[in-house]
Amino acid sequence: MGGMDLLHVTDPHLYGCAEGQLRGVETDSSFRAVLTQAFARADDYAALLVTGDLVQDDGAGYLRFRSILGNLRQPVLCIPGNHDIPELMHRELNGAPFQVCGSRRIGGWQFVMLDSCEPGQVGGRLTPAELARLDETLGDSPAHAMVCLHHHPITMGSRWLDGIGLANADEFWRIIDRHSHVRAVVWGHVHQALDDRRGDVHLIATPSTGAQFLPGSVGYALDHRPPAFRQFRLHADGRIDTQLHWVEAAPARKLASA
Ligand SMILES: [Fe+2]
Repeated sequence: MGGMDLLHVTDPHLYGCAEGQLRGVETDSSFRAVLTQAFARADDYAALLVTGDLVQDDGAGYLRFRSILGNLRQPVLCIPGNHDIPELMHRELNGAPFQVCGSRRIGGWQFVMLDSCEPGQVGGRLTPAELARLDETLGDSPAHAMVCLHHHPITMGSRWLDGIGLANADEFWRIIDRHSHVRAVVWGHVHQALDDRRGDVHLIATPSTGAQFLPGSVGYALDHRPPAFRQFRLHADGRIDTQLHWVEAAPARKLASA
């Protein structure tokens, strides 16, 4: 086979309190159930990627995140989402195994973690400084690159969600298009799965470790699907295999029938 495995989980929305629920899901037990299955499936993974909304507007959620993942030997690569508290996140997740934003070289791959959050907004935007950092980081290294951000830089075909994506996606893609070694762009925020292409670039979204949004919905709507995680196999030649795993055993939300 060859290559290295990467695990991707996103949008755990943790609270300080273990019983905290979001959209009918106990976010702590759901996150733990997903991680248990993810670690069982890939015992030799190179890193764990977490693309935002680590907490649900609750700073104490970072202590919970740390208590769940703080003993990992592999790097835990994190970026903030609109429900994170960035200053607190940087402070509470300061030091191994955690890395918040920046970039990280692992094997023959480079992970570029972008902060797409705009204070006080649900939707995202990359600042000029963050766009410049993206361009420079990609320019500095010819390694196969995976670019990670919280907000979706394409339309998802869901009107309400497409109003809260990445506002300056055009500027983002102008930079990506200049660097032919970008192999994938990966995001969270949309609480649903996507596995598509834009030219040679994989476009990947992973569902939440909690409740999901209904794909294609005009307005806000929840989906019945269970929590999920994603496994990547990143090959030395830049190819990517990816597999999405729904975690049926997790304490998913029981939706009342309409
Ligand atoms: Fe989220």
